[in-house]
Amino acid sequence: MISDRTIREIMDVTRVEDVVGDFVTLKKRGQNYIGLCPFHNERTPSFNVSPSKNIYKCFGCGKAGDAITFLREHEQLSYPESLEFLARRYNIKIEETVEDSEAIAKKQMEEGLYVVTGFAQQYYSKLLFDSDEGKSVGLSYFHERGYRNNLIEKFQLGYALNGWDTFYKAAKEKGYNEKLLLEVGLISERKENFIDFFRGRVIFPIHNLSGKVIAFAGRYLKKEENSPKYINSPQTSIYDKSRTLFGLFQARNAIRQHEECFLVEGYTDVISMHQAGIENAVASSGTSLTIEQARLMKRFTSNITILYDGDAAGMKAALRGMNILLDEDLNVRLVLLPEGEDPDSFVQKHGTTPFREFVQKHATNVVLFQADLLNKETGNDPIRKAEAIREIVGTLAHVSDPIKRQMLLRECSTTMLVDERILIAEVNKLRRKAHGKELKPTLPEQKMLSDSAEEQMNFSREDFMAERDLMRIILESGNKKFNDEITIAHYIISSITDHPFEHPTYRMLMNEIVSHLNAENVFPEDSFFMEHKNEQVKQAVINLRHHNYELSENWEKMHEIFITDKENNYKKDASSALRRYNLRIIDRMIADNSKEMKEAEKSGNEEELMKQLQVRKSLNDLRKQLAAETNTVIVK
Ligand code: UTP
Ligand code: MN
Repeated sequence: MISDRTIREIMDVTRVEDVVGDFVTLKKRGQNYIGLCPFHNERTPSFNVSPSKNIYKCFGCGKAGDAITFLREHEQLSYPESLEFLARRYNIKIEETVEDSEAIAKKQMEEGLYVVTGFAQQYYSKLLFDSDEGKSVGLSYFHERGYRNNLIEKFQLGYALNGWDTFYKAAKEKGYNEKLLLEVGLISERKENFIDFFRGRVIFPIHNLSGKVIAFAGRYLKKEENSPKYINSPQTSIYDKSRTLFGLFQARNAIRQHEECFLVEGYTDVISMHQAGIENAVASSGTSLTIEQARLMKRFTSNITILYDGDAAGMKAALRGMNILLDEDLNVRLVLLPEGEDPDSFVQKHGTTPFREFVQKHATNVVLFQADLLNKETGNDPIRKAEAIREIVGTLAHVSDPIKRQMLLRECSTTMLVDERILIAEVNKLRRKAHGKELKPTLPEQKMLSDSAEEQMNFSREDFMAERDLMRIILESGNKKFNDEITIAHYIISSITDHPFEHPTYRMLMNEIVSHLNAENVFPEDSFFMEHKNEQVKQAVINLRHHNYELSENWEKMHEIFITDKENNYKKDASSALRRYNLRIIDRMIADNSKEMKEAEKSGNEEELMKQLQVRKSLNDLRKQLAAETNTVIVK
């Protein structure tokens, strides 16, 4: 483990503009830098890097963070890997805390495995291009399939000679011991001898996300009795089949750019699609899709398009993977190719543009696809219809986003001619069962802060803005003095105790600040937020710090919101933000009061009505007073 002291040292010298600048061309614009966002496709730059705040933010796609976040997202490094990257970049010597011997041994073992797989990859590639057998058998096979050399090199394809132990001997000569070679599955033991695992096969290396070879697949060249078409390296401590997607290393940038990932079945499908210039494709490699693989894709995009064979088996395979993708809240579309075609054959036969057009035309949301399929199958048979409904209900229950679910539910009800209410009731029943608790009809509390999520909140955008403003002021000036006795943070917090924030992340942030204040009696340091383990809190802080409140003047007037002038003094800032916050609360109380009055009127409860009228009067007075102090135009 990297010591705390080293982490401090690294964080002290790290400049976000350096690190981002290693990957993105940045131009100076005023205090900041701008460039084309590496996380989404754009032509005009909206990617902003702020040296003073040491963070970046894209105003196009909303991605934001510090140097570490950038390395984790853009380079897919882990936290320790990011620190190592920065240490190398800034020439900082890493001081390790003492690790237990087991962990050290494991790490060394894994390093050893990478060295061996790296060696084997080079060995097989060299044979493909340089040996007679490799050229006449392996290379000519690839060429026959239409693969050009640059593609063969990009995927580091290779060839294993048709002997018993040529690889073993070569590895032995290089000094690699049997234990390691056995461990990665490149040789096996037979009658006290060692023989090569891959013999007379073309080789497809499998890479991890940093481009290291972790395993191989070997395809036979002609059909053999009793021999599978592909043989694959065994699971090892560097290769977990269920956590790997073939081609993801080569596809990852294209996936991000196109904001879409094609999921295909085979190695050769991925490679042929690359050859056709469609580089955002990965393969699950014959096994059924796992949750880990779904999460892996989700790191790059939420839009998955499954491209499968149009035959019954292909259809089944596609639908089998579907629930896993839906559970991960991915947008899944399905394209069935004409029967007998796979992406490899289709793109080779028809070419790139027709391929893209076909996909464009035939991509269907996977849930609706299933509904349609079920509908066609059932005909007029009432028993089969009931089964079909049960099946689609089972699928819909996997859609975790309530809004998406609602939309799909409605369409399914139209397609299958089932009453929407029946579908809703059945889906909810299943979801309750699956979660073991009552489901909330509202939105999940977890994912806030994206604009659409803000709009979906059950309080208005103005309420949200008022909370955001207070939150921002606390972060910016929380530790400054409000008067001789209290700080701005104390002032704001004590003023809103009766009406805590509605926004879940802000409420969480506020609670953390309060408990920190209670425990330490000082306002938390910057690092408290920036090194916060909860990414949501960190993101919220970054967004608040890097605000560019995209409001027009007109908008401000209409919604009674004023962007506080940053040059203004912070006390005035805090007081007026508080007044606006209170205005929002009063407005909510007025709305409640209106409801109460209607109720009282309906039930003819004169006494209650009088009481509510009194309440309304004082609320109105309060509002007028506050509004006057705030200089807010009352538009009512
Ligand atoms: P395919 O039979 O479609 O293979 O199996 P392919 O890669 O398209 O090969 P070509 O076009 O016949 O040359 C799809 C995937 O299933 C896995 C492989 O990952 C393959 O790419 N598979 C298939 C195996 O792992 N073992 C096998 O014996 C067969
Ligand atoms: Mn194929």
